[in-house]
Amino acid sequence: MTLSASSLFLPGIYPLITSRDPLQTLTGKDNLGMGYTEHGEQYMLKPGGMLGVAEFVGARISEACGIPACQPTIVTIQGINGPEHVFGSRIESGVHKFDQSNPRQWQSIMNLCHNRRAFSAMLAIDLTLGNDDRHWRNWLVQPTTNHHGVQGFGLRALDFSRAWPRRHPALHPLRHEAPATWNATRNWELLGVTFDWIAFYSACATISALPATWLSRSVLTPLTGVFLTSSQADVLCQWWASSLQTQVIEAIYSLENGVRP
Ligand SMILES: Nc1ncnc2c1ncn2[C@@H]1O[C@H](COP(=O)(O)OP(=O)(O)O)[C@@H](O)[C@H]1O
Ligand SMILES: [Mg+2]
Repeated sequence: MTLSASSLFLPGIYPLITSRDPLQTLTGKDNLGMGYTEHGEQYMLKPGGMLGVAEFVGARISEACGIPACQPTIVTIQGINGPEHVFGSRIESGVHKFDQSNPRQWQSIMNLCHNRRAFSAMLAIDLTLGNDDRHWRNWLVQPTTNHHGVQGFGLRALDFSRAWPRRHPALHPLRHEAPATWNATRNWELLGVTFDWIAFYSACATISALPATWLSRSVLTPLTGVFLTSSQADVLCQWWASSLQTQVIEAIYSLENGVRP
């Protein structure tokens, strides 16, 4: 018996969503609502495919850069044609609820924010991945205690649905389709965020040092056969090897040449 390429992948066993609340779609049109496992784990659901891949890529790069992100998961739902694997964002506990489109409310949080440099580091990731959707509601704010025991708030990034490889190749940093990422940077000063070049450059250095083998082994392999085929994974790794560093350089160039927060 010969082993086909697909049989190299073990059949995955993923959290099974046994009850759903599709009406509880929190925002966007891709949102499939809330799903719950039998024993009470809760996920915000979205389709799989390249959207699911984009959510994993964004979260894993954030982790590599030390930025808290939401936990991406493959989950199984009961579709019309049987079980279907989709993207689930495991719901974070202790989210601080407030009107995230209100600058005044952000100001008071920012005064007590332990990781506000995350905005500058995340800009490096968003520009590299062509993510044009980093508006103020695509952050979670959680009450936290820092390592000195001081209470305050922590930022956690979410929602990479519009980033590479949902759109492949990645959008050029200065040619975004939607203005949300750049618009948000214009409010930084008002909200008490100072652009931090060191955090930005340091994230750029981390991203450009991530080799295509990292993308392949750490991110895409567990998704192959579920959200994408192995030939699609190969195409993404080729783009990463040939274009990622150019994309990082374009991100730096776009900030160094005046279009900066
Ligand atoms: N892991 C999570 N924990 C808590 N809340 C979440 C989580 N993921 C998403 N949300 C909430 O759901 C909203 C929509 O999720 P998001 O990923 O931004 O989807 P959309 O593509 O619909 O904008 C977020 O703004 C946030 O309030
Ligand atoms: Mg969103």
